[in-house]
Amino acid sequence: MRDLRGLIDDWLANGQMKVVEGADWDLEIGAISEVSGLGQEPPALLFDKIKGYPQGFRVLVNMFQTQRRTARALGLSDALRGPALVNAIRKWMENYKALPPKVVTSGFVTENIMEGKGIDVFKFPVPKLHKEDGGRYIGTQDAVITKDLEGGWVNLGTARVQVQDPSTVSIYISPGKQTRLIAERYWERKQSCPVAIVCGIEPVLFAAASLGLPWGVSEYDFAGHVHGEPVKIVDGQYTGLPIPADSEIVLEGEMPPPDVDSRPEGPFGEWTGYYASGTRPAPVVHVKRVYYRDEPIITVVGDLKIYPLDSYLSILFRSAEIWNELEKCGITDVKGVWLLESGMRFLLVISIKQRYGGHARQAAHVALGAREGGYLGRFVIVVDDDIDPSNMADVLWAMATRCDPETSIEIVRGCWSSPIDPRIPPEKRKQGDFTNSRAIIDACRPFPWIKDYPKVHALDPEDRERILQKWSRVICS
Ligand SMILES: Cc1cc2nc3c(=O)[nH]c(=O)nc-3n(C[C@H](O)[C@H](O)[C@H](O)COP(=O)(O)O)c2cc1C
Repeated sequence: MRDLRGLIDDWLANGQMKVVEGADWDLEIGAISEVSGLGQEPPALLFDKIKGYPQGFRVLVNMFQTQRRTARALGLSDALRGPALVNAIRKWMENYKALPPKVVTSGFVTENIMEGKGIDVFKFPVPKLHKEDGGRYIGTQDAVITKDLEGGWVNLGTARVQVQDPSTVSIYISPGKQTRLIAERYWERKQSCPVAIVCGIEPVLFAAASLGLPWGVSEYDFAGHVHGEPVKIVDGQYTGLPIPADSEIVLEGEMPPPDVDSRPEGPFGEWTGYYASGTRPAPVVHVKRVYYRDEPIITVVGDLKIYPLDSYLSILFRSAEIWNELEKCGITDVKGVWLLESGMRFLLVISIKQRYGGHARQAAHVALGAREGGYLGRFVIVVDDDIDPSNMADVLWAMATRCDPETSIEIVRGCWSSPIDPRIPPEKRKQGDFTNSRAIIDACRPFPWIKDYPKVHALDPEDRERILQKWSRVICS
């Protein structure tokens, strides 16, 4: 596995990345990312010589928009796709053993430091991504580091970070997220919460930060386990928080209780394709120190509408975590888990080999009851093991031909959602009620008469492979 700079070299050498010079941070980077990102096999884009900024102060977008590039970034075979790729990631998660970070005295991130009156977050080419965004966002593909007051463990969570003024940023943290729960413990004691925000980050640490790991599990330890070596950290001078030594840009400071200071945050063009959470008061961070590497890179998720939104990295790690959650609760014979690209968390597909009556429903309910599977969803679709959950046409075919709307759809109410859910009605929003409902769609053949279900006439996988091999000169697979 590679660090960010190694990854960039690899992608450039393999035609997986393009350098774009001369774009404007004001909407142009966002627009280019969107147009390019909606194409076939879009490359990652590294923006340099950004309008008004010196060469070397860069922005990196669309990193994980193909399965191939994502697999490569993780050091996996770039031929793997769908559930096979998810399974490779699950292998890392199996036998999880915390590998704590290693403290070093300096790293690339300490090459440059701003403090006191010298702090100016606008020194970096922070993009305004979407037309109606309320400002410039330095944090999208980032990690917000906090330390739990009671447990003493260090949490990393991805949350968007808007620049309010040269030394103040605001953070949008959804209710129930660990970053918020940790901050609330400081605020209840009328204390400011120490924070460090990593704005240019390597893939594994980012994947860990954006994943719903259990309470008390540090993303540093998880990333160390996945990497097979400890993450190198330096102690932040202002907060004492551990900062990834080889990251690109880190803002260190403190987040006062919201009744002491909060500022209007948003709107922001969210991964759902909407500006749903609008503008609300959000907690701020008073930035006390800024660390950055020479020729720093801000890693950015453009949050495109529909395909593939906030990237395959999230799809893969989240699907792997949900699959693990199912197995931990005793659901056997899970053959695949996938968050479909068009809906991400809103369209969760689980494929199982049914073993008993109720197996499919049980899998869906367990997913809804777990931390990663239960957050901000809408449809849980359970399909048989002959369906590839990562193939939307296959999933829709199963729904169309195996689901009886009257008996195969169940509604669950009052579930954990978020202000970014566009379907929360205005009256609920006003009351601060951000719960939603879920539909379980059982698109499996009914178990009691599964043997009598009309036979499928497609080739089985072995015959398909045989024909492909023999006739490869005429068939494009
Ligand atoms: C690109 C990206 C951006 C995200 N932005 C936010 C955000 O602004 N606010 C938020 O609460 N969650 C956001 N999330 C989801 C959280 O990172 C995720 O739920 C994570 O588990 C939160 O970690 P925590 O519970 O340790 O705080 C984002 C995820 C990704 C992949």
